[in-house]
Amino acid sequence: MTRQMRFENQVVWLTGASSGIGEALAYEFSKQGAQLILSARRGKELERVCAQCVGNGAATGNSAATVPYILPLDVADLDSIPRKAEQARALFGRIDILVNNAGISQRGLVAETEMVALQRVFQVNFFGAVAMTKAVLLEMLERRAGQIVVVSSLTGKLPLPKHAAYCASKHALQGYFDSLRAEVARAGVKVTVILPGFVQSEISANSMDAQGLPRGQAAASRRAMRADVAARKMVQAIAQGKAEYEFGGVERFAVPLRKYAPWLYSYAIKRMKI
Ligand SMILES: NC(=O)c1ccc[n+]([C@@H]2O[C@H](COP(=O)([O-])OP(=O)(O)OC[C@H]3O[C@@H](n4cnc5c(N)ncnc54)[C@H](OP(=O)(O)O)[C@@H]3O)[C@@H](O)[C@H]2O)c1
Repeated sequence: MTRQMRFENQVVWLTGASSGIGEALAYEFSKQGAQLILSARRGKELERVCAQCVGNGAATGNSAATVPYILPLDVADLDSIPRKAEQARALFGRIDILVNNAGISQRGLVAETEMVALQRVFQVNFFGAVAMTKAVLLEMLERRAGQIVVVSSLTGKLPLPKHAAYCASKHALQGYFDSLRAEVARAGVKVTVILPGFVQSEISANSMDAQGLPRGQAAASRRAMRADVAARKMVQAIAQGKAEYEFGGVERFAVPLRKYAPWLYSYAIKRMKI
């Protein structure tokens, strides 16, 4: 199958589609023929991404590119998710692939971080992904088909000073979705956990401080991968049905470093300037 056609007739529901990695994933899935449902809180930004998907398809003469649907939602509003899932399912009768990409970051020393900030990170990054997954899972199990994708982070395996809440939420995703994979493997449902390294996006600008307030500071990393490059890699891993996919620049070598020389990793992060 050509790369363009890999997701033809596949219904992909993507959260966090209004910026950064999610936006780039929308363009890549759309190019490859997926029928997209785009979700995030900012409807206007989703409309912009939707228009760009259509424009990309027209500009490249890609007949497989489809017009996405927009379904604004807040993943932290857990009670609203089952109703949103009904609306999403009503569009095509099923969801083939759910991509849990919506997420926020938070920066602050543990000693200074308020519980409200910690809870907010978990509400969005962990409970939001869990609620979305539970809302589509039964129908996937009934059809004995489907794929749940979670966008974690290398920090899902690597502790990092001043990012304890974010790290913990991503570690929690790993444990939850690895367990889910074992439960549903024989029922025909795949679970893919993706762990990116640094990627260019709005994540720093949208992150919270120790009080849970917007930091409003974009800390662009020179080492960060372009979002479109990251999205191509991620969509390929999803197409291949990988259980887990880690990628990034040199930072990805920290995972084997921590596994095989934990004392060295521990020494390095104690001396890290963050
Ligand atoms: N950039 C990196 O270096 C990096 C590395 C590893 C992992 N990641 C992960 O990649 C994912 C995407 O992040 P990004 O880097 O692309 O950051 P981003 O540009 O800030 O995008 C975050 C996306 O999540 C959405 N979102 C945030 N809170 C939400 C909520 N309560 N309900 C629904 N949608 C919500 C945002 O949309 P609205 O504001 O419109 O709701 C936005 O579309 C996150 O899970 C992040 O942890 C990023």
